[in-house]
Amino acid sequence: MNDTNQRDSFTSKFGAIAAIAGSAIGLGNIWRFPYITGENGGGAFLLIYVLFILLIGITVMTSEFVIGRSAQKNPYGAFRLLAPGKPWYLIGIMGVLAAFFILSFYTTVSGWTLEYVYQALSGNLTGKDNSQLTEMFTEFLNHPWRPYLWFLIFMGFTAVIIILGVKNGIERYAKILMPFLLVLLLMLCIRALTLKGSGAGLRFLFHPDLSKITPKAILEALGQGFFSLSIGMGTLITYGSYIRKKDNLAETAFYVSISDTFVAVIAGIAIFPALFALGGQPASGQGLMFIVLPEVFQRIPFGNLFALVFFILLAIAALTSTISVLEVIVAFLVEEIKMARKKATIIAASSVSVLGLLTVASMGKLSGLTLFGKNIFGILEYLTANIMLPIGGLFIVLFIGWFHKKSLTKLEMTNNGTIRSRYFPVYIFLVRWIAPVAITAVFLYSLGIIKF
Ligand code: TRP
Repeated sequence: MNDTNQRDSFTSKFGAIAAIAGSAIGLGNIWRFPYITGENGGGAFLLIYVLFILLIGITVMTSEFVIGRSAQKNPYGAFRLLAPGKPWYLIGIMGVLAAFFILSFYTTVSGWTLEYVYQALSGNLTGKDNSQLTEMFTEFLNHPWRPYLWFLIFMGFTAVIIILGVKNGIERYAKILMPFLLVLLLMLCIRALTLKGSGAGLRFLFHPDLSKITPKAILEALGQGFFSLSIGMGTLITYGSYIRKKDNLAETAFYVSISDTFVAVIAGIAIFPALFALGGQPASGQGLMFIVLPEVFQRIPFGNLFALVFFILLAIAALTSTISVLEVIVAFLVEEIKMARKKATIIAASSVSVLGLLTVASMGKLSGLTLFGKNIFGILEYLTANIMLPIGGLFIVLFIGWFHKKSLTKLEMTNNGTIRSRYFPVYIFLVRWIAPVAITAVFLYSLGIIKF
């Protein structure tokens, strides 16, 4: 039954990295990175983003692995074990809550990818220009049942894979398919770059215009970094607990973060040059990818077939991410509330669906319902990416940097002294000083409390 002593673990080094990368690489890279970059001015945003990944992201990720693998538990249980009687477990609770919110809007967008699979199959993506594709996207969002149906189908897929369990479900899917998605993205890049007028898009993405750096852009860069790496809510504590004792944690964090950033940049190179060549606005919001990429596909031989394969693979990339988020809630219910895995999954998936269907509606019929000028979708996205994840990350690095015994951290990172960890002092410096100070500074700066 639900024997917590018999936890699953990834069966190979490749399996662990593939599944963790499967969590990190998803809509965050291909859908969210381009649209957020477009809204925040391009090159300067990218520069800050990369800086945050290197200084903060890899540090938080390594810390999550250290916590997860040493405790062998879900985030809540891990903090309970490592810091008995102390309030650190609240990070775990916030993580479960963040998982609910993220799943609500993330599954919504995952549903959109299924709609585009369907549209590619029906041949409806061909022969349309930018404005027709924009219209098609908006009409879909306002359709009385389609986006809701796709949401539920996607949530169902996610739940089924979670019920099948870690080894059988996650690992198998993650490792075979993602290289294909990368090949398709590279193909899109080549086509986009050979369009007339694409240079302006490259310039937009890579030429940092420092006047575009605003407090808002800095917070968005931090939030996007956390979101894209799947850090700050315990997903990687949970996955860290499945990493084998002989794998190198810091190295894994490094490679996953670099690959994740690479995929985001590739998505940017597929989208911005095409956008500038074909005429469109970088700040067109959540629809950006769904409008630009079909335009590029139309300009490739057998484009409709490639579009079909692309959206299928994108849906699978999204699926390896949604399962990693749902897994956080399920691991909590199974290990802490002692629920059976199947029951826990069904309860988690159905309660997420309640908020999720409202989120779907907020992109269509309920779009008038706003707070601070944002609809439900926008609120959940902003609240999780820009606030909850960085706060979670802040406490995670504070925990490792200042609370958890340094000798224990060192044992975990050196696999009980069996491997050398040359960068351990660097990591300690980052986790104690750089990461917490930087995250705090970004918050204070974006609130207007400090100025540079
Ligand atoms: N990182 C994933 C993506 O980029 C999304 C994701 C999965 C996530 N698990 C997460 C985001 C945990 C935040 C926290 O698509």
